[in-house]
Amino acid sequence: MTNTPSLAGAAVLPDDYVYDLLRGIAAYTASPLIADLAETATAHPAAALDNAFNHKQVACKAWLRDALHLTLGPAHPRVWVLGGWYGVMAAMLLDDPRFDLGEIVSVDLDPACAPIARQLNHRAAAAGRFRTRCADMYALDYSGADAPTLVINTSCEHLPDPRAWLARLPRGLPVALQSNDYFTEPGHVSAVPDLDAFIAQAGLGEVLYAGALRLKKYTRFMLIGRR
Ligand SMILES: C[S@@+](CC[C@H](N)C(=O)[O-])C[C@H]1O[C@@H](n2cnc3c(N)ncnc32)[C@H](O)[C@@H]1O
Repeated sequence: MTNTPSLAGAAVLPDDYVYDLLRGIAAYTASPLIADLAETATAHPAAALDNAFNHKQVACKAWLRDALHLTLGPAHPRVWVLGGWYGVMAAMLLDDPRFDLGEIVSVDLDPACAPIARQLNHRAAAAGRFRTRCADMYALDYSGADAPTLVINTSCEHLPDPRAWLARLPRGLPVALQSNDYFTEPGHVSAVPDLDAFIAQAGLGEVLYAGALRLKKYTRFMLIGRR
């Protein structure tokens, strides 16, 4: 073993710095998800995985997992994650042994997301439990033969009209939704000032959980219930 000095303080980090660090964390935590993240981040250096997997994003998705388990239980045969981005929500759900999940479909409008989401979730994909779909969530059929049994959308702040999207879902369909009050971020066209505003915006038939998670720059809001 060579005693190569660390370059952590260098202005430009060497190519293998992130990979080596993530592989080390994966080994230390015995986490297949972090090992997959190491491979995915290395294969897709231009993808904003540092944003998608930053500590706030992870905290918000861990919060969703806990509240989902508490309110709607562990068994979900067909989950659609809408605005699924790089598949982090799907990966965190599939990594959680509390859940008994069938298939997760990660839907995103941006075709660039799919290869990254697929690599991050390659083990589940190989087992037929994960796939991506490039589509506009406003144009999907939520009542067809392979209709979801649970819809997750942690990107409500990005939708021009979340209520119009929700109106496309059959009444009674279980949903887990997140939004925020981060108005200054470009693209957050439907951010809401508080939890009550999010409840009013969504207009769910049944709310089983409503909560707010205060983060440094913004507050994230979550609703779990039935459309
Ligand atoms: C920035 S990301 C996710 C932000 C959110 N905080 C999260 O972590 O889930 C928002 C994603 O929603 C996707 N998106 C926006 N409008 C969409 C639509 N109508 N149908 C499907 N995906 C959409 C974008 O392409 C993008 O990948």
